[in-house]
Amino acid sequence: MGNVGAGFSMSLDGFIAGPNDEVDRVFAWMSQGDTEVKVSTGDHDIDLKMSEESAELYEEIPNAIGALVLGRRIFDVAGAWGGKHPLGAPMFIVTHRIPEEWVYEGSPFTFVTDGVESAVAQAQAVAGDKSVGVAGANIMQQCLKAGLLDEIGIDLVPVLLGQGIRMFEYLGIEQIELEQTSLTNTPGVTHIRYRVVK
Ligand SMILES: NC(=O)c1ccc[n+]([C@@H]2O[C@H](COP(=O)([O-])OP(=O)(O)OC[C@H]3O[C@@H](n4cnc5c(N)ncnc54)[C@H](OP(=O)(O)O)[C@@H]3O)[C@@H](O)[C@H]2O)c1
Repeated sequence: MGNVGAGFSMSLDGFIAGPNDEVDRVFAWMSQGDTEVKVSTGDHDIDLKMSEESAELYEEIPNAIGALVLGRRIFDVAGAWGGKHPLGAPMFIVTHRIPEEWVYEGSPFTFVTDGVESAVAQAQAVAGDKSVGVAGANIMQQCLKAGLLDEIGIDLVPVLLGQGIRMFEYLGIEQIELEQTSLTNTPGVTHIRYRVVK
């Protein structure tokens, strides 16, 4: 069974989006380099331009991910990615409210109403040996708290956003240890990978 991992672009003061879900600043490193990376979404291709080091890390991701577990807010904010996530993997959306328009034979979305453990188990079942990617800060925090997360990737951006959506909200009083497994420094972003010590 593959790992369960989450990766976020985060400001130095710990925000992954602004107060109105803005991600332009934290994702700026993806469009400010010399190396082209093509990402295909449902209705159009996105041309990214990042540093060579960032591109090397980024290009590994689509092949490594076998399924995604995502929160309902990221699903809504992203407009359901027009029906196809840029990573092209089956998506398990954790929600209390099933959007019936996306429930049909062959839909890339499975809506999970019985919590993150169930969503991760369903995602792992289809991912096989590949990894399960987790996104949405709230969902990631629940996975971390439940001991479901094996890896955390942070693309640390040199900005203080001051307000917005925090990557780590209050997780309880238990200390969670991480082991740093890689570090790649570029001018616009520092990529840090951690293993969650269990
Ligand atoms: N910087 C980055 O790398 C990055 C990457 C991805 C996303 N983002 C940003 O992250 C933000 C979204 O994250 P978020 O933390 O706000 O929300 P989220 O984790 O995407 O979704 C939270 C929602 O999921 C549903 N939910 C949570 N736990 C549940 C449970 N146990 N059972 C059933 N439903 C449950 C609830 O929605 P309902 O009750 O309405 O169903 C809840 O409001 C957006 O601003 C996005 O732009 C940033």
